[in-house]
Amino acid sequence: SVPDTFDRPVHIAVIGGTGLSKIEGFDPIATLNPKTPWGYPASPIQIVEHNGVPIAFLARHGIHHQYAPHEVPSRASIAALRHIGVRTVIAFSAVGSLQEEVKPMDFVVPDQVIDRTKGVRPFTFFEGGLVGHVGFADPFDAKIAQVVKQCAEAMEGDGVILHEKGTLICMEGPQFSTRAESNMYRSWGGTVINMSVLPEAKLAREAEMAYQMICMATDYDCWHSTEDVDVAMVMKYMAANSQNAKRLIGAVLDELSKHDNSDMVLAKHWEGASVGAVSFM
Ligand code: ADE
Repeated sequence: SVPDTFDRPVHIAVIGGTGLSKIEGFDPIATLNPKTPWGYPASPIQIVEHNGVPIAFLARHGIHHQYAPHEVPSRASIAALRHIGVRTVIAFSAVGSLQEEVKPMDFVVPDQVIDRTKGVRPFTFFEGGLVGHVGFADPFDAKIAQVVKQCAEAMEGDGVILHEKGTLICMEGPQFSTRAESNMYRSWGGTVINMSVLPEAKLAREAEMAYQMICMATDYDCWHSTEDVDVAMVMKYMAANSQNAKRLIGAVLDELSKHDNSDMVLAKHWEGASVGAVSFM
């Protein structure tokens, strides 16, 4: 059986979204399930070895996809990753497209977020006497984004299409948007929409991690036609695209693992983002 302890810090993590709940082709060398003050992570964390570098994998919605977007225990997941040493997070998510040029199966590396969650999800580590305000003007990590873009560019010949920036709308769900909402998000400049980037990205910032989401378009949301979005459509395109998603993850991990102990992966540029923002402890 796989050990439940691991004696080295793990700096790099992948958070898999809908349709990407396991990391195939890697044998886990450990499975960790640390209990945090916010409970257990969404799934036990699998440690795999890539080019001799340990990589953590966590399934955002749980092994059995048992957590709806508004139920995902993001604080426990992020705290557990941080606890085992993680400083860089690559997060995957299925998204709806709000723009004609972002076709189903295209990838998007978003650089902005608009928060349309409704405040029902626990969204901060800073409460109960610990008051802190981190900056979130740029919610993602430009250095990690650059690595992802370069990896995708090298795969262009194989039909991988990646959009290098975009505004990601994060809605509450679990119901999809109305047509009026979908058109409003387009008028706001939204590129893609999901239910999962928040509070994950905010908590990663509070934990001083480098965080970059990679979005995979699975549908055109409901603005595009009279057809409704449904889960079957999302799953169909996810399945069709999972080969490319896995190859892109592999390429990104190849590159990041080369830089495992670099300032980039260790997120030195985010150090102090949180501690500096704590006004009372
Ligand atoms: N995830 C995948 N497609 C989506 C959509 N159209 N709206 C919100 N979240 C999504």
